[in-house]
Amino acid sequence: MFLEVKGLTKRFGGLLAVNQLDLTVNKGEIAGLIGPNGAGKTTTFNLITSVLQPTKGRVIFNGEDITYEKSHAIARKGIARTFQLNPLFGDFDVLQNVSTAFYISDTSNLFDMYFNTNKHRRNQKMIMEKSHEIIKMLGLEQVKNVLARNLPHGHQKMLGIARALAAEPQLLLLDEPIAGMNPDEVEAILKAINKIHEQGITVLVIEHNMMMMDICNRVIVMNFGQKIAEGTPQEIRDNEEVQSAYLGGV
Ligand SMILES: Nc1ncnc2c1ncn2[C@@H]1O[C@H](COP(=O)(O)OP(=O)(O)OP(=O)(O)O)[C@@H](O)[C@H]1O
Ligand SMILES: [Mg+2]
Repeated sequence: MFLEVKGLTKRFGGLLAVNQLDLTVNKGEIAGLIGPNGAGKTTTFNLITSVLQPTKGRVIFNGEDITYEKSHAIARKGIARTFQLNPLFGDFDVLQNVSTAFYISDTSNLFDMYFNTNKHRRNQKMIMEKSHEIIKMLGLEQVKNVLARNLPHGHQKMLGIARALAAEPQLLLLDEPIAGMNPDEVEAILKAINKIHEQGITVLVIEHNMMMMDICNRVIVMNFGQKIAEGTPQEIRDNEEVQSAYLGGV
């Protein structure tokens, strides 16, 4: 099993934000995670990537228990993510935002950096080449020298994805990548996700938008911290429990 979440639980005071959640992601798929506001989707990502520690439960990745690993260690093991609130370095341009994200996987140590050793220079060169590849793949070439804070919303979201790709993940977790976008921006992001997937990266995406559901092989639905349904996009669309969860339980 590629990613396996078992009995995952997160309590915030009296609130069970995630409650005994079992979830699997298969290698090579695009899986969707949907559910009404407050269902526990972002908290689930935070638990998988150790931004938060669970109250109970386990996260297994490639057969290894990563529940209590640190976030940077999880990134090195191959899980990268974007954030709903998309933190970027506003005063850095696109290329700088992507290249700085590589340092997580840069093997230069401080000695190499300080003395500008050959190894450090080789790494720098490789980082710039890979950054350009990612920028090209995601269609950000035209704006590569624009400061992040001056980019339109769609490009900012794309840049968040580019930064996540710099960790060279096997599994990419995307938190609402097309929220608040215009149709052209949505199309660009969907195209980018398909390209990322074609490169062999597995994707788990949180999104309400039906256009995103349509590119998913499988959709998992959460409500009140629990999984309430799982199936193909069509099955999920036809599921009455899912429909009533989105309508607030009427
Ligand atoms: N750090 C926190 N402390 C206290 N409560 C929290 C914290 N993070 C999330 N919550 C609560 O946990 C519940 C689940 O939140 P979460 O952000 O996971 O929902 P979500 O499914 O991502 O919703 P949305 O679609 O609005 O992004 C909500 O009731 C939220 O208010
Ligand atoms: Mg959320």
